[in-house]
Amino acid sequence: MATDGGLGHAAECRGTSNRPASTPTPPGLPTVEVGDPDVARRLIVGHADSFSNHSSAPLAVDLDAGHPRTESITSAPYGSLWRALRSNLTANVLHPSRLGRLVVPAQRGAAEALVTDLRFATRRGAGAGGVVVAVRDGVYAAVLATVARLCFGDGVVGERDVRAMRRTLREFFHSDIDAGLLARLLHWRQWRYLVSTRRRLAELFGPVLAARRRSRRSSGGGISSYVDSLLDLRVPNNDADADGESPVSRRALRDDEVVRLVWEFLGSSTEAVVACVEWTLARLVTEPEVQKKLHRELTAASDQRKGQVSDERLQDLPYLRAVILESLRLHPPLPMIVREVGPEGAAAAGAPPPPDGTLKRSGGTRWRGRTRPDEFRPERFLPGGEGEDVSPVPGPKEIKMMPFGARRRHCPGAGLSMLHVGCFVAALVREFEWAPPADGGDVDLTATNALFVKVMPSPLRARITPRTSQSQS
Ligand code: HEM
Repeated sequence: MATDGGLGHAAECRGTSNRPASTPTPPGLPTVEVGDPDVARRLIVGHADSFSNHSSAPLAVDLDAGHPRTESITSAPYGSLWRALRSNLTANVLHPSRLGRLVVPAQRGAAEALVTDLRFATRRGAGAGGVVVAVRDGVYAAVLATVARLCFGDGVVGERDVRAMRRTLREFFHSDIDAGLLARLLHWRQWRYLVSTRRRLAELFGPVLAARRRSRRSSGGGISSYVDSLLDLRVPNNDADADGESPVSRRALRDDEVVRLVWEFLGSSTEAVVACVEWTLARLVTEPEVQKKLHRELTAASDQRKGQVSDERLQDLPYLRAVILESLRLHPPLPMIVREVGPEGAAAAGAPPPPDGTLKRSGGTRWRGRTRPDEFRPERFLPGGEGEDVSPVPGPKEIKMMPFGARRRHCPGAGLSMLHVGCFVAALVREFEWAPPADGGDVDLTATNALFVKVMPSPLRARITPRTSQSQS
């Protein structure tokens, strides 16, 4: 189902896989596409039981082949294992109280390091007209440094480990391979590389897990990380215990299961967030008036003595929030939400399961008409705008957009993502003025697939100029 509320992307609710829209569906597996937000709401809210599983085949490659099966939160079928894994994530590392206390200071450190690097680049580049930079790698490193601390705890992973993780994540998420035999032959190197992912992840994370077990034993704790919570977690032995009637026997997670969940955490916390920061900056480059307005809001909210927006104020800036929502509306990093749909689900969508193809159900949209839906206009999310009541995750009554999905399987990282994107965009806009790379130079706003996420076709290049203290006052 389209996550932008029917703005005009192809929209679908696939019966097959959660790869991006343009990735071909394996032959023989029918697809139902839904582009109408009312139909999407009816299915996800009204027929929740038929639309609560992500696909069991998210990738063209079975990474568990020949090994015991592992599940991530995304892949686990709706049931007691999924419930245990998801509530462990939301009750521990993503709990709102921890986000404010631990994540925001960690993000601030990473954002400051990024700003320092860019300042250095502008000094080296000299010239009054600023310097052209590509920010994707720097933002990626900053986001990953933050989430690695949340994931493993303080002092467990060194810079070398983070660099190795970054390489593996990038290679994995930016590979593009489909299931066809011809494609497999053409890309056999990449295919073999993907198939070896499980072994490489075990090599990468095995020592880190062992180190964390040791440091927990010797120091009695430190900051409790996602890995800690997974090592302590006991999951139901049998998903059939989900009925809640029989006493549930429990077990600890195997190391390969922890590795899979750590991999999911790092992947989901970086790829879409980095894409969203980059899309937002791209829009600010092409919309100088919006950038000026955002900069004014940041300056007004800054503590004049420290020259920063306080952690609390940062989470409560209406225009910054509106800019991020508008970026997510026009450039949802995951433009489709994908559910496994049996015959009942297809019937609920208004048609029998299509024997050989795709059923499109499109029509309604929340953003047509006078509201100029194709324009980047954050004001639509401010009081009086047509999107003033929109939140990142929609409630049960109406879906205007759903960049983080909706209902049972909605993204548990929505709050963390809004914080991440807000923190990095605020630091970068407060410190630098962003402009196109050269006079008349264009920013390419078409999107391309990076396995699961829609990214800019090539990293954003922009001319940045440090803001003077006068311009901030
Ligand atoms: C801008 C950033 C992000 C975007 C746009 C995004 C989007 C999404 C979407 C569309 C879904 C599918 C929802 C559905 O089927 O209804 C999802 C699921 C998920 N996301 Fe995110 N996400 C982002 C960041 C994060 C972060 C920071 C985490 C942190 C751990 C995360 C963890 C997950 C997990 C675990 C699921 C699976 C939930 C389940 O199956 O129950 N995501 N995300």
